[in-house]
Amino acid sequence: MHIFHTISDLRAHLRAHRMLGQSIGFVPTMGALHEGHLSLIAASKAQNDLTVCSIFVNPIQFNNPDDLARYPRTLDVDCAMLAPAGCDVVFAPSAEEMYPEKALLKFDFGDLERVMEGQFRPGHFNGVGIVVAKLFNIVQPDRTYFGQKDLQQVAVVRRMMIDLGFQIELHPCPTLREADGLAMSSRNRNLTAEERPIAAHIFKGLTAAKTALLTGETAEMVKAQMATHFEQQPAFRLEYFEVVNAHTLQSVDKKQPDGQTALCIAAFLGKVRLIDNFVF
Ligand code: PAJ
Repeated sequence: MHIFHTISDLRAHLRAHRMLGQSIGFVPTMGALHEGHLSLIAASKAQNDLTVCSIFVNPIQFNNPDDLARYPRTLDVDCAMLAPAGCDVVFAPSAEEMYPEKALLKFDFGDLERVMEGQFRPGHFNGVGIVVAKLFNIVQPDRTYFGQKDLQQVAVVRRMMIDLGFQIELHPCPTLREADGLAMSSRNRNLTAEERPIAAHIFKGLTAAKTALLTGETAEMVKAQMATHFEQQPAFRLEYFEVVNAHTLQSVDKKQPDGQTALCIAAFLGKVRLIDNFVF
């Protein structure tokens, strides 16, 4: 496995592979890798000659300085996981390498970012848009792999790719979970030993909400039930719970046709902000 820290070294390496007609799959990450990330690497390996993983804690997508400071940085351990997973190339640039000057460009994703993550994390999707577009231009992959764990991120990246004409196939991949249902996340390692078992409260709430919608209850009723579910667990602070159309991400009042309903949630457990979603 090759590890590059500069754009020029990475480009030179990938150019040689592209000249041989090899296809490139790309998995962007912020590191602190877990099985969820490795499932994206596996998906890329199954479809491409070469798999590139970027590890970059992108400062401009953090709206909260504490969150950025606390974000785990574990490059050596990450590389020790990526090599046996069959990743071919790691790109781990410094912030100076990625942003020699402050990016001036501003993305506005319209209604897609007025809700949920975009609403509660102002500027977040601008930062995601800039870094993903830049990484796409640096790596120039044939295919890219994103987790549905970040449903809104997938929608925003898909839209950016359409608007800017990126010729890359976008492959959304299913959310990997711990045995108790907690969605795997780099932030889970910031949970205390007391908090960790409580974290499955999110999965339980989503499961109950899905059942209720499938039996004909309205979004309004299900949202009230979720509020009560979180009142029963005071260690948590519910930030939002929305019943939305899975494509537009706008609120809906009841279950949509199959595959088009999404339940999206964000909640603080102590200092740790967790997000999750179900699509059905
Ligand atoms: P990060 O949170 O490290 O996630 C990298 C990729 O892994 C994302 O596509 C995310 O959706 C996916 N992922 C996270 N948890 C997962 C899980 N439990 N199952 C499956 N996939 C999972 O998302 C980012 O980084 C950044 O915003 C990034 C796109 C790299 C831009 O900076």
